[in-house]
Amino acid sequence: MRTLLLLATAALAASAHAADPHSYADTDKFVVRHVALDLRTDFEARRLEGTVDLTVEQVDPAADRLTLDTRDLEIATVQLVEASGRSRVLAFKLAEPDPILGSELTIEFPSCCAATAQMTIRIAYRTSSEASALQWLDPAQTYGSKPYLYSQGQAIHTRSWIPLQDTPSVRLTYDARIRTPPDLVAVMSAARQVDEGAKAGEFRFTMKQPIPSYLIALAVGDLKFQALGPRTGVWTEPSRLAAAAHEFADLPRMLDAGEQLAGPYRWDRYDLLIMPRAFAYGGMENPRLSFISPSTIAGDRSLVSVIVHEMAHSWSGNLVTNSTWDDFWLNEGFTSYLERRLVEILYGERRASMEDAIAYEELVRTIEDLAAGGHPEDSALHLKLAGRDPNEGTSDVAYQKGRWFLGFLEERFGREAFDAFLREYFDAHAFQSIDTATFRAWLLEQLKQPGAPAISAAEIDAWLYAPGLPPTMPEVAQGVFAPVDQAAADWRAGRVATDALPVKDWIPQEWVRFLDQQPADLDDGKLAELRSTYRLGADGNAEIALSWFELVIRTAYEPAYADLERFLLDTGRWRLVETLFRELSRTESGRALGERIYAKAKPGYHRSIRDAVERLLYPGRAADTAQ
Ligand code: BES
Ligand code: ZN
Repeated sequence: MRTLLLLATAALAASAHAADPHSYADTDKFVVRHVALDLRTDFEARRLEGTVDLTVEQVDPAADRLTLDTRDLEIATVQLVEASGRSRVLAFKLAEPDPILGSELTIEFPSCCAATAQMTIRIAYRTSSEASALQWLDPAQTYGSKPYLYSQGQAIHTRSWIPLQDTPSVRLTYDARIRTPPDLVAVMSAARQVDEGAKAGEFRFTMKQPIPSYLIALAVGDLKFQALGPRTGVWTEPSRLAAAAHEFADLPRMLDAGEQLAGPYRWDRYDLLIMPRAFAYGGMENPRLSFISPSTIAGDRSLVSVIVHEMAHSWSGNLVTNSTWDDFWLNEGFTSYLERRLVEILYGERRASMEDAIAYEELVRTIEDLAAGGHPEDSALHLKLAGRDPNEGTSDVAYQKGRWFLGFLEERFGREAFDAFLREYFDAHAFQSIDTATFRAWLLEQLKQPGAPAISAAEIDAWLYAPGLPPTMPEVAQGVFAPVDQAAADWRAGRVATDALPVKDWIPQEWVRFLDQQPADLDDGKLAELRSTYRLGADGNAEIALSWFELVIRTAYEPAYADLERFLLDTGRWRLVETLFRELSRTESGRALGERIYAKAKPGYHRSIRDAVERLLYPGRAADTAQ
């Protein structure tokens, strides 16, 4: 009884304190509305140093302690800056770090300096050289001869370079002054302020639309820009600029298609920043400026769906944002659905259904893996990540089960009515952060409108709250791959020689299908022929390489292990790295190989990717010892 009572009080305290289990922010008391950064990059010490001015609104007039999120920050001073400009020093306390959440920073307001309805809090600080958001790259890790720095905020890393309320439930505007070495250029997820008189190495930015903290982003390097149309363009290192501009020439068309489908583009410009190879993601939807992995430059524009995806986040994710990481599917499921629709508009139904078919097979596999790994509940759309690293929620479920939930709704509504529903969804929730329950309530409301289709709450809840795929899962056509599957069967049976495969007409997605369908007992002779005839695993299309190396691991084809190692040393991209280490960790010998490769590759990986790999290679190990 007593334990029960205690438990109940603890649960109450927790829920009263924070709606977002991954933040110390107490948003019933104070809300940070604006962030003004003034930071200097120190490439030698691998630190950012300077001040942040937080514009804080007092929500509860009785509130006298402001709690913020930080991780590994060195805080020098905290001041209350009065309207007159006079500042008063405030006492603060930095708590012992929690391995997942970081350190709670508590700021007290004594009677001399009471909190006011709106106030400016100035914090002078510097980041740790190990800041989890920041990756500092040596010139050797870039496409040029200068060092490089970038930040990756999602999910809860912004707190490692800015002390703030690091929860997606809070939206804020920001501005920044960034000082860099004179030969480098800074870019941010914000509008550049052009200042003719500015010194080399000094850059100013403003983001006037309110965004969640994880979308504040910075990159510094030897960067050049090329326009692609009046409101789009590409930034990258000089040696990659021409290739990038060629690969992403469709950008203006993509943005037009996005507006047609989802409504007006509300961020003014849309540019891409093509990153060095170590970049942790295929793409990251930083507003106005998506950060993109160079592995998307295939030469033939075959991997541009990554761009379409990040651009689609301009609506799903950036305009309407998941309010906690348990609701991550609202960002990624909607985006994957929009991506699918846009690929169809831009590149045709055939390519779109190929990408669907490939992604569906991966989804089925992921759901099986989650169940086998003792986490079947992670295959519900709504997650329960309290006490866990929110990046653990990053699986195909949010993306592809989310995509198919919307596919199911589309089927019931009919395409035209569903398109109107989508527009309405973005308009009704623009610049808001919402959770799954809010979405559910809104959907049920829409279903009461005259002419709306019959969809029951139970059908919806099976998608949102139950593991696995529900009975209303639409059928995913695999027929588009019938010719490839036939060729694969003929080849395995020896009816078609390796060099007679009809690959001349294959697009990369067909190669991926061909390789994904090969069984674990495929013989070494066939693997050797494939490898030498088509130069698999040498450089080339990243998605084909990924499927090839998955096959190499599945079949334990040792002659290609050196290629696999080179590939994993050459990229830092989560999807590539995670997929291959997951495949390696399925067997004893694979895991041993994985450990050997990881020991060499680790220094080149972003910290969040290290955490993800270590969860696979050392499943029992706690997050705090896994660094
Ligand atoms: N927002 C994600 C990247 C992300 C997810 C960062 C979770 C941190 C935590 C981005 O939009 C994304 O999904 N990128 C994918 C590519 C996409 C085409 C599926 C990637 O990086 O592979
Ligand atoms: Zn995404």
